[in-house]
Amino acid sequence: MSAETKAGAAMAAWSPDSWRTRPIAQAPVYPDAERLQAMEARLHRFPPLVFAGEARRLKKSLAMAAQGQAFVLQGGDCAESFGDFTANVIRDTFRVLLQMAVVLTFGGALPVVKLGRMAGQFAKPRSSDVETIDGVSLPSYRGDIVNGPEFSAEARIPDPARMEFGYFQSAGTLNLLRAFASGGYADLHQVHRWNLDFVRRSPLAERYRDLSSRIDETLRFMAACGMTSQSTPQIHETEFYTSHEALLLPYEQALTRIDSTTGDYYACSAHFMWIGDRTRQLDGAHVEFMRGVQNPIGMKVGPSLGEDELLALIDRLDPANEPGRLTLISRMGAEQIAAKLPRLVRATRREGRNVAWLCDPMHGNTIPALGRVKTRRFDAILAEVRGFFDVHQAEGTVPGGVHVEMTGQDVTECIGGARQLTEADLSARYETFCDPRLNAEQALELAFLIAAELKSRRAPARTDVAAE
Ligand code: PEP
Ligand code: CO
Repeated sequence: MSAETKAGAAMAAWSPDSWRTRPIAQAPVYPDAERLQAMEARLHRFPPLVFAGEARRLKKSLAMAAQGQAFVLQGGDCAESFGDFTANVIRDTFRVLLQMAVVLTFGGALPVVKLGRMAGQFAKPRSSDVETIDGVSLPSYRGDIVNGPEFSAEARIPDPARMEFGYFQSAGTLNLLRAFASGGYADLHQVHRWNLDFVRRSPLAERYRDLSSRIDETLRFMAACGMTSQSTPQIHETEFYTSHEALLLPYEQALTRIDSTTGDYYACSAHFMWIGDRTRQLDGAHVEFMRGVQNPIGMKVGPSLGEDELLALIDRLDPANEPGRLTLISRMGAEQIAAKLPRLVRATRREGRNVAWLCDPMHGNTIPALGRVKTRRFDAILAEVRGFFDVHQAEGTVPGGVHVEMTGQDVTECIGGARQLTEADLSARYETFCDPRLNAEQALELAFLIAAELKSRRAPARTDVAAE
C-alpha cells in the first residue's frame, strides 16, 4: 500500500472509540476500570449539552474570522472548579466577556464571535505526573472532572463519579448562559453602561474615554434612527458559544452523538473544542478523536511546533480544507512570537489553508512568583498580542482573534494593569485552580488596548464612495 492509501485507510477507520488504539498523553489512571466503564455508559445515555446545528453556525462564524470578516474573543477560566459553581461567577465572567466584545466590535468594526472557556473547562494537562510538597509525592491534580485539588492521597485518586458532576455543572452553566444571552441581560445598551462605569473608575480613565464616548455617540445615533432594543433583536440579545480543551477522552467519547440531520458525528459537550499543546501528537489519541467529529475545532500551537509537523496536523484534522473547521491558537510568548510565528503563518498561507489564527497571549508568558505560584505580566500579554498583529500585518494574513484566561472576579493573579498590581499583591486574592487569570478590570483593559490596536491598523474608511 502506498503511503497515501495507507493514510486513506487510517482515515476511513475513524469511530468515536478509535482513539483507544493510539498512544495517549496526559491521561489519568483510573484504579477501577469497571466503575469508569459504567460511568461512560451512563453519560452516553444522557442528553447532549449542545446541538450540532449550533456548532455548524459557529463554524460559519469562524470561517468569517479566518477571512478577516469577524474577530474571535475566547475567554474564561484556565480551570473551572466544582467549588466555584455559583450564578455570580458565571454571570460575572459572561458580563466581562460581553463588555470586552462590545469594545472589540467597535475597535475592529467587525462582528465579534463570543466563545466562553466555560461550561466544561475542567480537565487539565500537567507538566509533571506527580506533585511533591515537603518530601511527600502525590499524583498531580488534573482538574475537578478527574481528581481533587487538595493535597491528600485520597483527593488525588481519579474518580469517574466526577464526570457526572462535571456534566451537570456544564448543563447548569450552559442553561444560565443561554438565558443571559437571549433574555435581555446581554442588551447592548446595558453592556455599554457597564463599560462607562468601568472607564469612570479606572485610574487610566483618560486612556479609555475616547473609545467609550464614541461608542456612546454611535448608540445614540442608532437609537435616533429607530434601532433600539425593542425594534432590533441584535441589540437585545447575543450569540454565545462554549468551549474547552478536549482532554478527557472517555468523557468526550461518551458525549459524542450522531447528528440526525446530517448523519455526522459531533462532540456534544461544547460547541468548540481544542487540542492542547501537550496532546497534539500526530498519531496520538487526541488528534485521532478530534479528526472524526465535525465540530469546529482548535489546536494550540506552541514554540516547539515545526512547519512540517503543523502541515501534517492540518492535513489530518482538516483534510477537506473546510472554512471554519480549524482554528490555530498560537501561544509563543511575547519574546518568541516574532521569531516563531512567521514561518508557520507563511506555511499555512502558502498551502492555501483556510485556518483561523488566534492569539493566546497567556500560556507563553507564565512566570514563577513568590517561589510557589505562577503569574503573568499584563505588559507581556499585551506585547504578545501586538506581536501577533505585527506578524499578520507583515505576512498579509489575518489575525482572527484572541484567547485569554480571565475571570469576572476581582482576583490578584496577574501582575500589572492600570492598578499596577505587584508580586506583593498576589497573595490577596490568588484563587485560580491552575493558571493565573486576568481579573475583570485587567481583562477589560486588555480589550480596550486591543480595540485601539485594531482601529489603528484598520484600512482607513473610504470617503470617496459617493464620487464613484
Ligand atoms: C490551557 O489553555 O489552559 C492550556 C493548558 O494551554 P496549552 O495547551 O497551550 O498549554
Ligand atoms: Co491555562
